[in-house]
Amino acid sequence: MSDVYLNGDFIAADQAKVSVFDRGFLLGDGVYEVIPVYAGRCFRLDGHLKRLQNSLDAVRMANPLSEQQWQLMIEQLITRNGNGDQSVYLQVTRGVAPRDHVFPENVSPTAFAMSNPLQEVPEKYKIKGIAAITVPDIRWQNCHIKAITLLPNSLLKQQAYDAGAQEALLIRDGYLTEGSASNAYAVIDNVIYTAPKDEKVLPGITRDLVIDLARKGKLKLVEQALTEEQLRSADEIWVSSSTKEVLPVTLLDNKAVGTGAPGAVWQQIDALYQAYKLEGDS
Ligand code: PDD
Repeated sequence: MSDVYLNGDFIAADQAKVSVFDRGFLLGDGVYEVIPVYAGRCFRLDGHLKRLQNSLDAVRMANPLSEQQWQLMIEQLITRNGNGDQSVYLQVTRGVAPRDHVFPENVSPTAFAMSNPLQEVPEKYKIKGIAAITVPDIRWQNCHIKAITLLPNSLLKQQAYDAGAQEALLIRDGYLTEGSASNAYAVIDNVIYTAPKDEKVLPGITRDLVIDLARKGKLKLVEQALTEEQLRSADEIWVSSSTKEVLPVTLLDNKAVGTGAPGAVWQQIDALYQAYKLEGDS
């Protein structure tokens, strides 16, 4: 049984209880983060904590912990749960109050964290690539906020699974935004394209790293949204997230992407990513 963190205490996961009046439960009024941990060490923690602060600011919620307090708590949680490779989940909700759409006054946020073994990315996804479908982006206008209200994302991901695919690529007003739980990229004539950071996409921490690595590896990358048509004729398509790293999409709506195998540019970015992981970051 793993330990979780809840409002200042570490407790056994099956002992952790939150009120039914918590606004996270009743209204989905909360934000979250998912941080990968390799060999007991957080990967890109600073970026995740900054994005958490941005999400909290965007929904006008106070941060219950300072950056240092988050760091310390997360280190303790990782140690309590046996180090190794883990996935740390942080969630902050506005707190417990009688149900009302209007924000309650004088309520303290609910701070929760758990850590689970990091699910290994199946080797076949890197050897053969994954399948994706395109679907309309039915989400709201503030996708840059990492909000816990994931019903649209969940519906879209399920739609992909029902179609035998692993991810749904979202199309808004004719342009590719991102995946249901990932950022998306396409390679055309050796240029990597990914949608720019705005309210239509989550500013992925892995996306930031991919951009850095592409620059270091002298690969050409532009932050520009692609049309659905460009996506369909791309040489390569990839998706990225903290738990899945960078994966090649080799089948889109049941049609081969490029040669139908993971592409040469993906091979380069994956090699750079794996080397960076081995070096370890702060
Ligand atoms: N999701 N876009 C969306 C909609 C996401 O849900 C995620 C990650 C990303 C990638 O962000 P990052 O590189 O910071 O993980 C992009 C996490 C993993 C989740 O919800 O479990």
